[in-house]
Amino acid sequence: MKIAVLPGDGIGPEIVAQAVKVLDALQRDGLKVEMEQAPIGGAGYDAAGDPLPQMTLDLARAADAVLLGAVGGPQYDGLERSLRPERGLLRIRKELNLFANLRPALLYPELASASTLKPEVVAGLDIMIVRELTGDIYFGQPRGIETRGGERVGFNTMVYSESEIRRVARVAFDIAMKRGRKLCSVEKANVLECSELWKEVVIEVGRDYPEVELSHMYVDNAAMQLVRNPKQFDVIVTGNIFGDILSDEASMLSGSIGMLPSASLDLQNKGMYEPIHGSAPDIAGRDLANPLATILSVGMMFRYTFADGALADRIDGAVRKVIAQGLRTGDIWTEGCQRVSCSAMGDAVVAALG
Ligand code: IPM
Ligand code: MG
Repeated sequence: MKIAVLPGDGIGPEIVAQAVKVLDALQRDGLKVEMEQAPIGGAGYDAAGDPLPQMTLDLARAADAVLLGAVGGPQYDGLERSLRPERGLLRIRKELNLFANLRPALLYPELASASTLKPEVVAGLDIMIVRELTGDIYFGQPRGIETRGGERVGFNTMVYSESEIRRVARVAFDIAMKRGRKLCSVEKANVLECSELWKEVVIEVGRDYPEVELSHMYVDNAAMQLVRNPKQFDVIVTGNIFGDILSDEASMLSGSIGMLPSASLDLQNKGMYEPIHGSAPDIAGRDLANPLATILSVGMMFRYTFADGALADRIDGAVRKVIAQGLRTGDIWTEGCQRVSCSAMGDAVVAALG
């Protein structure tokens, strides 16, 4: 098992170091993994003048899985658009054809009070958001800023082909089959042609999955329903931009964005694994970040790319255990719990691996 480790920027290196600790501990138990690090994002720009240096892309291609921290930072905001850290992330997703982004929103019972929603609204929450990741307005052409009629206009293109919709819909239906067999497709078909096609194709794919109860929701309503009654959802499938927004919203149901892992898969289940949160420059380098989303991302790596559910369960179990022990980083801390640093949290998870 070859893992490309791309720490990135801000808190990226600190949280990835904790996930690597977990992998190292598993290696001492006999797991065979090869890990190699490379820069991405602002770190890629600093090292090679490119947010996705060629050697990083080559390493990621040669690996079975990629572990990523986070990218971005205020010091890079002034760079020309194509050199900004986020572009490195978007390019690696596209280059590796990682079209299916799985973002689970799961509430650990002990964290119910860390959510800004009432405990009874979020207790037992377990949603899987399947976000399309390599299409939509993120990549559509034409795009740009140009002068028209004496003023500047900015423009992007929302576009989906049938095949792009079909393949992500299949992933979502397959996941729904393994869970509660309910799938909600989210779009804006009352306004956008792109969404109209999305809905049609999802319905077509659904004919192959008669056991899955398929529903459709406009994205504005979905945003509202997620805070009104989030437990009505099992699996949500949606396009790139709607999924970006809804997954941040869903993360707060589970207490903190610092808890949520993600997997981005290609057709062969090769994957890139990353926390859904950003690089948090405000707390970077201070050993304050929550490494659990990154550690849980390693769990997802074993579940999806290496098809080792037992090991994935072991990692998830260790995270549950430290939460149950009352250990909390600042983002999930509540009265009566023990506040710990990023590295102490990593050590605790290693100890809890058993
Ligand atoms: C995410 C992030 C990225 C995205 C940014 C950093 C480009 O918000 O992974 O959700 O918009 O996809
Ligand atoms: Mg986002």
